[in-house]
Amino acid sequence: MRNKTILLLGAAIAVGALGATALGQGASGPFTQAQVGAGRQAFEDNCAACHFVNGKGAPGIFPVLDGATVVNADNPSALLHVILAGARTPSTEKAPSILVMPGFAHRLSDKEAAELASFVRQGWSNQAGAVSEKEVRRMREGLAKHGS
Ligand code: HEC
Repeated sequence: MRNKTILLLGAAIAVGALGATALGQGASGPFTQAQVGAGRQAFEDNCAACHFVNGKGAPGIFPVLDGATVVNADNPSALLHVILAGARTPSTEKAPSILVMPGFAHRLSDKEAAELASFVRQGWSNQAGAVSEKEVRRMREGLAKHGS
């Protein structure tokens, strides 16, 4: 009997967690078929902890990706640079703490990074072009040569 109660409790928690996830995604608006794929999963696994599933980030802490210039630029290299090499805000008098985004060069294959970047460029209200594996490979080679 006691075991059964614990099982039920576990199930309730699992359902609660699923509900919360669905809510978070709902708030980010519907995704088109092209946007629902490996790239979205990679975003949720690697980026959403800081930039949130809705791409809105947190003001003053994690930059918004929905509608961001760097994300929507015709040339995706700045976005790829950030994804592969990471980024850090300079420490200023107004905002003395340095916020660091880790680089994902070692965690993502060219294919994964291309899918992820394509998702970011086409998710939410973004409408930029997809990114190819070749573009990722070129950025990776550039970083290896010149450092980040
Ligand atoms: C640990 C938290 C964290 C994670 C995880 C993270 N980021 Fe960031 N990201 C940041 C912070 C902090 C900045 C701001 C750094 C800066 O301004 O130099 C940033 C900046 C960016 C920018 C530049 C935005 C702009 O307007 O300049 C992009 C694009 C970006 N992140 C995309 C991603 C993607 C895609 C992923 C997943 C592969 C990711 N981030 C994972 C914290 C994170």
